[in-house]
Amino acid sequence: MEETRLLTDSREDLIYAANLIKSGKVVGIPTETVYGLGADASNPDAVKAVFAAKGRPADNPLIVHICSITTVKILAHDVPELFYRLAEKFWPGPLTMIVPKNKIVPYETSGGLETVGIRMPSHPVMRELIAMSGPIAAPSANISGYPSPTTAQHVLKDMNGKIPAIIDGGVCNFGVESTVICFDDRHTVRILRPGSITKEMLEEIADKVIVDSAIINDIQDGQKAMSPGMKYKHYSPAADVVIVEGDIESFCRFVGENNSDGCFCLVPDGDSEYRIPCSYRTYGADSRQQAHNLFARLRELDEMGARKVFVRPPSKDGVGLAVYNRLLRAAGFEVISL
Ligand code: TXA
Ligand code: MG
Repeated sequence: MEETRLLTDSREDLIYAANLIKSGKVVGIPTETVYGLGADASNPDAVKAVFAAKGRPADNPLIVHICSITTVKILAHDVPELFYRLAEKFWPGPLTMIVPKNKIVPYETSGGLETVGIRMPSHPVMRELIAMSGPIAAPSANISGYPSPTTAQHVLKDMNGKIPAIIDGGVCNFGVESTVICFDDRHTVRILRPGSITKEMLEEIADKVIVDSAIINDIQDGQKAMSPGMKYKHYSPAADVVIVEGDIESFCRFVGENNSDGCFCLVPDGDSEYRIPCSYRTYGADSRQQAHNLFARLRELDEMGARKVFVRPPSKDGVGLAVYNRLLRAAGFEVISL
């Protein structure tokens, strides 16, 4: 086991981290969404080390992070004009766009696919790093299946001894991963993973925006996932998460009847006015706060020894859809409607 160094965002530390990446090593990196595990996107062995550190299935592709729009034509071909209009509006920021890949992107990075997901992050530390290292392939920095990390400490907990360094860039602003889209045709966008860039925001630029059905439905046996990440268990703490839909009175009654050792509730801020007959944590007053807090709360609940977590779901509109999508997967699609 190697020692994992916690780096600051000083110029000196970033040069050190960029050199690690250029020499084929994996570094924990801050972004505005969640922390990533970064490696040289064009180096197959470096990318393999990312999959090994996470315990991620090799067919689940990594996003390539860039800091300049001119890099797009190096990485991809047949890029629709709509891609550039969306980039103009939402980059740098939490939007990943999938397009046909060029040879320079190895199959290790694309999970064997002919396409590549590209994103220009807005986190200033990440942008400075990419400018020094070149394009960085990075998945979220959690152990595969576990909630994504939103602080350097979360990354350290999952990756200690597995990677040489983590850059501490503070708490992630958004807290859920980027919106992932592909293009059904030159005018139609399909959302494969909801995030902070919402359907409504995309509709300001694109003629047609489709929300893929796998966002709120489980992939059925035999059904092909548009995005490999859709078919894997995700974001799950050790505790058994169950979404409980219904009004707050019914929720309190249900929890009272089903309370047991190690049982906790996770509820929106406003619900704490009611007498919830069980230990509980709150995760924010609105969708933006809930997105910011969700993964940290799931990790905290594990640390508190939670065995079962009953969750009052967020709104499914706007950014709420991203929060609901992560919760559904954390719950393994276990939803009780009262
Ligand atoms: O905000 C984010 O996107 C974070 C930060 C680190 O940038 N990254 C992230 O990566 O969430 P990851 O690997 O945990 O999730 C990427 C998702 C996966 O579900 C993957 O299947 C999908 O994007 N994806 C990536 N490239 C794809 C491609 N070429 N075709 C289809 N799906 C793709
Ligand atoms: Mg992930």
